[in-house]
Amino acid sequence: MVTSFDGGRSVMRRAARVHEDYRGRGIYRRLEQELENYIRDHCPNAQYVSICKNEKDHMFHSRYLAQDFHQVYKREGTQMLVKAANIKSLDSNDHISDHDMIQTRAISADELKLLIRSEEIKKKLFPDNRLLNFYLSYRPMEENVRHLICERGGAFVSLDTDFHNINDVRNRDFQEGNDILPGTHDKYDIKEFSHTPIHVSRPPKGSHSNSQPHQQLLSPETINNVAMVTFYYCYPTAGKPCYFFDAYAKPGLRSPGDHFRSHLRENVLTLRKFFPDQDAVLPLTFDPSIPRDEVMSGLSEVGIVDEKPDAEKWQILYERRQRY
Ligand SMILES: CC(C)(COP(=O)(O)OP(=O)(O)OC[C@H]1O[C@@H](n2cnc3c(N)ncnc32)[C@H](O)[C@@H]1OP(=O)(O)O)[C@@H](O)C(=O)NCCC(=O)NCCS
Repeated sequence: MVTSFDGGRSVMRRAARVHEDYRGRGIYRRLEQELENYIRDHCPNAQYVSICKNEKDHMFHSRYLAQDFHQVYKREGTQMLVKAANIKSLDSNDHISDHDMIQTRAISADELKLLIRSEEIKKKLFPDNRLLNFYLSYRPMEENVRHLICERGGAFVSLDTDFHNINDVRNRDFQEGNDILPGTHDKYDIKEFSHTPIHVSRPPKGSHSNSQPHQQLLSPETINNVAMVTFYYCYPTAGKPCYFFDAYAKPGLRSPGDHFRSHLRENVLTLRKFFPDQDAVLPLTFDPSIPRDEVMSGLSEVGIVDEKPDAEKWQILYERRQRY
């Protein structure tokens, strides 16, 4: 199939499948030719054609190079099996750890557009000018927001607030009647504040942001403090439902593992909301600045411990400039 993104400027060739009994007879070669004909005849604005593969499809690498595709981007990841019975309760406030101090919120389509319009933060979060979410390639363009914030998909952000803002946040928390009082932060380990830019306030009990944005977090004032963005997209299948989860972090973030854990919590709550009590498959990708061991320990802390056998570890994007 072909799917178009970037307002029609890019098309993806994807999801090729030939029944096992009919492989090796040239069916895919014929399909590929038909897709190319279709792109030529029906996608007049396409400037780029792309294909996403995993590292196991390396035998196709030379085939695509011969078709003028180039590798333009790759993302590290894995695929986990989520067992509903093993998921830890995420509602408990008994134990407050660093990632509980980070506010992670669902953002609206308008907030994502604001982020995309902000060149400075966009370059930090998406330095390759790419998103590779759910095995699909998007340039960070406003035209793509409708694919990303939709019925079965959304995005979360967390902020990295520098030390100068901490008193503002403390005072705001106090004024808003939250349970963190100025000068009485010891129980939340505020000694870390002088070293750690993360913190912000603990979300009010029971107010998980999952799915529906409930309070605007992004504004022209806060936009450059975005530390991490995660995207999700999910759907039921004939087997287990699939929940795709892709994390982008600002390079040099001092506590990427804590931000990741905070985002993971929101995403697991979202997964449970869509598919209560169901096991699921969780393909995920993460930026190089989020170490794999932090990802795996974060997953394990919420009860996601089973990596899919033969899980793909890389998503690799190839692209070709379209010639007419
Ligand atoms: C990959 C797949 C679509 C190929 O379908 P197919 O009809 O058997 O392929 P064809 O017989 O048309 O072969 C097409 C070309 O691909 C090559 N090819 C086929 N399978 C290949 C593989 N696993 N690795 C490398 N090359 C392969 C063939 O040698 C042939 O090359 P040629 O054109 O230079 O002669 C099929 O094996 C399949 O459905 N696999 C499972 C799903 C999958 O991996 N999809 C691709 C990623 S979305």
